[in-house]
Amino acid sequence: MIVIAGSSHTQLAINIAHKLSAELVIANTQRFADQELKVRIDKDIRGREVIILQSTCNPANDHLMELLLLADAAKRAGSSRITVVTPYLGYSRQNKNSHLHEPTSASLIAKLIEVAGVDCIAAVDLHSENLIDFFTIELRNINPLPLFLPFFLPIYDYVIVSPDAGSIARAAKFAEQSNEPLAIIDKSRNHNGECVMSKITGNSVLNKNCIIVDDIVDTGTTICNAAALLKTHGANSVAACVTHGVFSSGAMDKIKHARFEKFYVTDTIYNNQLPPYITLVSIAGLIANSLLK
Ligand code: R5P
Repeated sequence: MIVIAGSSHTQLAINIAHKLSAELVIANTQRFADQELKVRIDKDIRGREVIILQSTCNPANDHLMELLLLADAAKRAGSSRITVVTPYLGYSRQNKNSHLHEPTSASLIAKLIEVAGVDCIAAVDLHSENLIDFFTIELRNINPLPLFLPFFLPIYDYVIVSPDAGSIARAAKFAEQSNEPLAIIDKSRNHNGECVMSKITGNSVLNKNCIIVDDIVDTGTTICNAAALLKTHGANSVAACVTHGVFSSGAMDKIKHARFEKFYVTDTIYNNQLPPYITLVSIAGLIANSLLK
């Protein structure tokens, strides 16, 4: 088995290759003068099983294109099986067309990956279950919860919170595995597209320690508004467990001011400038285990 690292997250590829005792090849990615990408795999991979690791995070289009080119290169070089690992799969939130004349972008991305010659795709905590239907190749959806749970053990007097309808299944799994109650925040968007949260259903959060479980922190609005709402409903403390740290501009400041008890995020997306109030937990072990199955 050979792990080929795309340029999005070399360190994660190194860690996974180490855990798999597999050879690591760093893809040779360059640009033409007009900025088109040009990739090369500087290794004879004929007859070998390859794992291509690339998060299709910001800059999503470049990372995606690099991934597709690497898959094509691996196919043409005669590899026996190509597994693509996208710890963070970009475009996942565009998984349905809510308006006329819009694409279902995530479905198109799935087709592009397949057409590039990929045999299997492994992603971490897919945004929605419906993404599974977009792929006809083998798909592994790696559950990050085993990374977060130990931080809260022995678990006591917590309420697990879903910050919106989309994360109910995720938070419910956490609640079930920790044997703690679940609360759900009713999130909607107003006519300006701003996130509005007013209601909490399910268990009461009064005098409780809350753990918000979500897949993505992007602008930080969802998680910080959820924390504020829980506090106005009498929560003692609020912690967060988030799989993908997109952290668009301004997110870190919002998180700082929201004063989370603890804020955990995995390293599906490379970030070398995390502030001390955010704790990084590595997904490398769970990805390696999944690849060994
Ligand atoms: C929404 O469906 C996702 O699960 C996240 O809650 C959302 O993408 C987070 O985005 P932001 O941090 O910009 O509120």
